[in-house]
Amino acid sequence: MSPDGRATRGDRRSVAVIGAGYVGLPSAATLANFGHRVVLAERDPRRLAALRSGRMPIVEPGLDDLVADAVAAGNLRFVESSVDAVAGAEFVFLCVPTPMSADGSADLSYVEAAAKEIASNLAPGTIVVNKSTVPVGSATTVEQFIGRTDIMVVSNPEFLREGSAVHDSLNPDRIVVGADDAGAAAKVGELFASSGAPLIVTDATTSETIKYASNAFLATKLSFVNALAGLCEEVGADARDVLLGLGYDKRIGFEFLRPGPGWGGSCLPKDTRALLHTAQEAGYDFSLLAGAIASNDEQLERVVSKVVTACGGSLDGAAVAVWGLTFKANTDDRRDSPSLDISHRLAGLGAVVQAFDPTVDADADGDGDGEGGPEDLQDLQLRADPYDAATGARALVVLTEWDEFRWLDFSRVLAVMAEPNIVDARNLLDPAAVRRMGFSYTGIGRQ
Ligand code: NAD
Ligand code: UGA
Repeated sequence: MSPDGRATRGDRRSVAVIGAGYVGLPSAATLANFGHRVVLAERDPRRLAALRSGRMPIVEPGLDDLVADAVAAGNLRFVESSVDAVAGAEFVFLCVPTPMSADGSADLSYVEAAAKEIASNLAPGTIVVNKSTVPVGSATTVEQFIGRTDIMVVSNPEFLREGSAVHDSLNPDRIVVGADDAGAAAKVGELFASSGAPLIVTDATTSETIKYASNAFLATKLSFVNALAGLCEEVGADARDVLLGLGYDKRIGFEFLRPGPGWGGSCLPKDTRALLHTAQEAGYDFSLLAGAIASNDEQLERVVSKVVTACGGSLDGAAVAVWGLTFKANTDDRRDSPSLDISHRLAGLGAVVQAFDPTVDADADGDGDGEGGPEDLQDLQLRADPYDAATGARALVVLTEWDEFRWLDFSRVLAVMAEPNIVDARNLLDPAAVRRMGFSYTGIGRQ
């Protein structure tokens, strides 16, 4: 480390990455772009085939170029088996899923399976890096899965966001490395020296806690923002201006202050619950975090109520247009998406939900009826474009902040809807403009 706490430039290293998902793929491409020789293992045949043919298996802006550059430079190649990937590697990054178990804890079964798969093929002295989000104590647990005294396990949590993963990977705010062996931690830190990011070296328990603390803090911040927006509606304040006023305070900042339909995605929901579970197991009453989670559920329900009100008090048989199904814009990820959750709740209240999302193929089975799509969309009527979704609807609900929704022809939307009601759960549209056209408009925290 340099005197200013930044990582210093290191050597070209041999790295294996296990799992080519939303974290593994950008991370592998970034390490390859930093000059390391990277082998990426992906066992899902469709994801692997896509990568080998130069297509991206996930929607992530800029990722195709980053991967193509790394492959062209000879620094990145793809294999199916983790066992093959680790042969000759000095570092092995585990980027496999850690979904939520039934009791709210993190399910380590993928981590366990990957660790056991590779154990006998690791060269002595290999450093295994937990980049998957894993609970406190997992560095030791993974050491036990591997069962070798000549292999060290280091925690290196990932902080990238979907939709800006390339930027976040290449320009991280910080690199956190946790290990009981300071030498191993320093070696992992050096892999990221090209990023110029501040390096925090700590013990594994602290590093693992930093990851959960970060996501829990972000979730709590958003729950506060959404609750505040609710209060603004009651007292007649404009939440956007209130939050602008807050954001100028440098201790608060402008980031992560956008009210919405509730926070979701593949990580904030599961990681907040996992941290709560860890706290409960430790006998610590983390009621603040429990409140943030409960408050998020209230936000989803608040949006549903707005739609019920817009439709005159009942959704029974009402056609409702939904724009956006992913958990945020610029990704195809629908895991724990608030949009989906709200859509299912609307369908559960009897609405016929006509949904459009730019990343969803409305005619997946080729018969053109908007049915037969992916399992998580079974109770929705998928539509091929936003106008089609709005046709005959008594309310239009904007649930994902896709930029293209701003620029649609709203006179056409007005013409095709049965009733001109908009519930804008992302505050994406200009209320004055759509009201002038004849819509009734309800946003979040604004009049
Ligand atoms: P993902 O499901 O998109 O990707 C995981 C990939 O690993 C899948 O493609 C799967 O096929 C592959 N895989 C699983 N076991 C394997 C094995 N034994 N060999 C080869 N391939 C294997 O998951 P993700 O969103 O990338 O998340 C991975 C981890 O990173 C999780 O712990 C998550 O909490 C954490 N994380 C995710 C994000 C994010 O934005 N998605 C950000 C930070 C941290
Ligand atoms: C989040 C964290 O931001 C990353 O730092 C972390 O690495 C990642 O989880 C993870 O551990 O997987 P991500 O899930 O990609 O990243 O999405 P965010 O941008 O954090 O958004 C989370 C949710 O909050 C989304 O539903 C989003 O729409 C919502 N959100 C976000 C708002 O409603 N308002 C905001 O101002 C920001």
